Amino acid sequence: MADDDRSRNEYIKEASAYLRGTLAEGLTDEISGAISEDDQQLVKFHGMYLQDDRDLRPERTRKKMEKAFAFMIRVRIPGGVLTPQQWLALDQVARDYGNGTMRLTTRQTVQLHGIIKFNLKSTLKAIDAILLNTIAACGDVNRNVMCNPNPFQSRAHAAAQDLAKAVSDHLLPATPAYREIWLDGERIAGGEEEVEEPIYGKTYLPRKFKIVVAVPPSNDVDIFAHDLGFIAILDDKGDVTGWNVTVGGGMGMTHGEPDTYPRTADVMGFCTTRDALAIAEAVVTVQRDWGDRKNRKHARLKYTIEDRGLDVFRAEVERRAGVPLAPAKPFTFTSTGDRYGWTQGDDGRGHLTLFIQNGRVHDIDGAAQQTALRTLAHMHDGDIRITPNQNLIIANVATEKQAEFERIAREAGMLAPWSGLRRNSMACVALPTCGLALAESERYLPDLMTALDARLAAHGLSADDIVIRMTGCPNGCARPYLAEIGLVGKGPGRYNLYLGAAFDGSRLSKLFAEDLQHDGIVAALEPIFSAYAAERQNGEHFGDFAIRAGFIAKTGNGADFHANVGPRASHAAAE
Ligand code: HEM
Ligand code: SF4
Repeated sequence: MADDDRSRNEYIKEASAYLRGTLAEGLTDEISGAISEDDQQLVKFHGMYLQDDRDLRPERTRKKMEKAFAFMIRVRIPGGVLTPQQWLALDQVARDYGNGTMRLTTRQTVQLHGIIKFNLKSTLKAIDAILLNTIAACGDVNRNVMCNPNPFQSRAHAAAQDLAKAVSDHLLPATPAYREIWLDGERIAGGEEEVEEPIYGKTYLPRKFKIVVAVPPSNDVDIFAHDLGFIAILDDKGDVTGWNVTVGGGMGMTHGEPDTYPRTADVMGFCTTRDALAIAEAVVTVQRDWGDRKNRKHARLKYTIEDRGLDVFRAEVERRAGVPLAPAKPFTFTSTGDRYGWTQGDDGRGHLTLFIQNGRVHDIDGAAQQTALRTLAHMHDGDIRITPNQNLIIANVATEKQAEFERIAREAGMLAPWSGLRRNSMACVALPTCGLALAESERYLPDLMTALDARLAAHGLSADDIVIRMTGCPNGCARPYLAEIGLVGKGPGRYNLYLGAAFDGSRLSKLFAEDLQHDGIVAALEPIFSAYAAERQNGEHFGDFAIRAGFIAKTGNGADFHANVGPRASHAAAE
């Protein structure tokens, strides 16, 4: 560690010559399937994580073998929009170089797992050939920009997608390191001196940065979970007049460290489309300069805003952008979920939303979904959109093709009559690939839901929309603290249960019970389901009910997330 107390990652970034490090050399080292520790931090900025198959760890340790190293690659897909050709190419790459499956993520992109070091360049070249890349899909930079993908409100949606793309392009790192290292591009003579990162500088941002664009009434992008957000404000004709700007949302926290907490974003003001890019850049540069570079657990924008106050932050953003923000305009969100099945656009074309359980695209017994999606992509001349809920929209389907598309999707189980709980479920990847996972998530949530569905059916609640999300650790990749039922891994087979979040994504949940195993989760929820069936008011959602009926206390925007936890009755004296 050097003389000041910046975190180790700050030195790695600074010494990396704009994200080059020793990646090029590391790729040619044939002795190991891994790369150096410092390069493991840098490779994230190129959209990759070094992982190992944790299922294989015991056996490989026994045989004194190196861990089964492989890389996860995350593609950059602003707004989640792909052409059918891009879909087909990613599917091919997954089968040629990855573990054969594709993973749709909660932030509207595709992850490919299991790519060994010696196939990385071929993989990235194949991705480049379809005009996609993985630049800044991970790392301390602006990540994939999300956008409401439902094109049925066509004009507002087009404006939102344009903004998402413009913000994404504007905040892309300028370094040519990606092209040099992965695509065999020429290194620009003089290297470091030639590069300028006008927005980021040499050390990029203190931490990851996430931006979304929402089109009310849908909050499918979960705007309050993100560092920066734009909410489309529409006039009577459905045209966008400008954007409310949100700042300071984030999910990640650490068990047992109450200084870390999820936080919902604040609405900071309103700007016109013309000023939106300047505002986005100013928010990013204020965070670049004010964010905490000593403690990575305190380095997200949410803590900067808590520490400095929203008014001070807003004034600095306005000063740097050179434009004042107007007071925020009224808006209403109604849900965070997807609308499955067909919606018809203003132009007569149809959009088919398909349920992909936990975003995993694969062929399993009785559900050849990967094959079916390949068939659809071959027949399709519209686009394919990844939703923020790990699902897919086959968008812009001409009327004459709709019946056949529906038949194929139905046969593969992507339009099955799922329960209201399963329709609204998400899980992060967790085991076996994620090195941070404390418990299963993607592989376990389907079974837990089967048990919960039985309880819900017993109370006549099968059709009710209830949002459930699970993650294997408190980092919160599937945004569990914004789910009406949130489950967060604590250790093998053990989960913390969170309740009381709002259905429209505007309020966080609160810890209800710790360290529950499967039977404990079902037992904890059963009396609340029963009460909900008997006592709920007309249209009342499960998260709101859990608070009104006194099961759990209400959380504000996050600093109070760890206050008044536990089943409410036991805290009655403290209230
Ligand atoms: C400090 C916090 C976090 C860390 C260190 C972290 C790290 C990781 C890692 C290592 C993976 C790869 C897992 C795999 O594919 O095997 C992952 C997946 C992912 N993370 Fe995070 N993550 C954090 C927080 C978040 C948050 C708050 C979000 C979203 C709001 C998010 C979004 C995602 C997404 C979309 C994926 C892909 C899989 C999925 O859809 O769940 N991450 N994260
Ligand atoms: S929430 Fe934790 S376990 Fe799940 S993918 Fe994110 S980092 Fe891994």
